[in-house]
Amino acid sequence: MSELDNLKVFGETAVGWCAATPPNETTDEAGVPMVQAGGFSAADPKAPARRAYDDPGVVHLREYLKKHNGMPGLEIVEPHEVERARRIFFRDGFVVVRDLLDPVRLEQFREASARILRQILEIPGQGGRKYITETMRLPHRYSYGTASASRHLLHEQAWAAMIDLPTTTPILSAIFGGEDYCVLGAGGDLCLPGAIEYQTLHSDMREMYQLPEERIAQAKRLGIEAAGAEMDDPTRQLLYERTPPRVTINFLMSDLTWENGPIRQIPGTQVRPGRPPTQAEEPEWMRLSTLVGAPAGAGVFRDIRAWHGATPNVSKEIRAMPNIEYAAPWLEDKYFLKSMPHDIWEALSPHAQKIAARIKTAPGVWPAGAGVMHPLASKRAEAKAATAQ
Ligand SMILES: [Fe+2]
Repeated sequence: MSELDNLKVFGETAVGWCAATPPNETTDEAGVPMVQAGGFSAADPKAPARRAYDDPGVVHLREYLKKHNGMPGLEIVEPHEVERARRIFFRDGFVVVRDLLDPVRLEQFREASARILRQILEIPGQGGRKYITETMRLPHRYSYGTASASRHLLHEQAWAAMIDLPTTTPILSAIFGGEDYCVLGAGGDLCLPGAIEYQTLHSDMREMYQLPEERIAQAKRLGIEAAGAEMDDPTRQLLYERTPPRVTINFLMSDLTWENGPIRQIPGTQVRPGRPPTQAEEPEWMRLSTLVGAPAGAGVFRDIRAWHGATPNVSKEIRAMPNIEYAAPWLEDKYFLKSMPHDIWEALSPHAQKIAARIKTAPGVWPAGAGVMHPLASKRAEAKAATAQ
């Protein structure tokens, strides 16, 4: 029996903990193992020496995290608390909202998350390793988005069905100052048990300090009356903070616990021009600034400019967070890929159709690469080229 039979993205699993995969080892496009000093897949200088559940370094890390991991006083709001959610989101650059998914939707998303993950993990690793590490990611960490040869998962019914929920649309509308925001894509990320390294703090997108007319109009709708060509510096700062170009909702398939790799977020960093600290410079309070206590079925609305990073999963449970990615109406076309097949789009609600209009394909056109999952960038490029129309 394979460990991938009956794979689930919540609860105890035999998946992960590959001791043959050295700490901090990533792969290049072709799958050649390498270690990166800096950048997105930078090595964690404090990582335990061996990827094994009972390794003394891992046991020590687990004891430390049990005592210290988690942001003190993390606020978790209810879906109906729309104004409170918006206030916290604009202040911190993220907000956790519980019960975004009802039990049926949570089950559907868990099933699909497990099915897609299986496609990634069933490709055998090299040199005794259980899995192939994703190109330019740390071991045992995968992105549902970048591991898809189409870059997104909106050809999957389970993801497309989550873009317009009764629990999420009012909060998105409050954040974007109206209903004319857009869907940009969908994917998410996950870590397997045994992802012992911290991922370096990063922004998924940096503020570009551009002020198209539509962004100023959005700011006015959000109550920033003085927005305009003549605005003073504090107004300009407020405008940048409250008009995020992109907002992502990560849906939690399991509770985030002190030991299963809860995401870390640094509050109030969404428009900081300086770069986040490197792994070597990062203070301990930032490493521990994680969303412990957020329950399964909740979601994290993230201004993707805010500094964040993944943390060690020293448990026996997969931590998966599929996502939907949204954009302000003024975000340039170059960011939008046609990743949702027309047939899936056609079956959506009127609001979902409207917000997904920029990423749907023409009738009869399948998004290039959609359906192929692979950890290696070179294999994804091949699959995409083979199906391009
Ligand atoms: Fe990220």
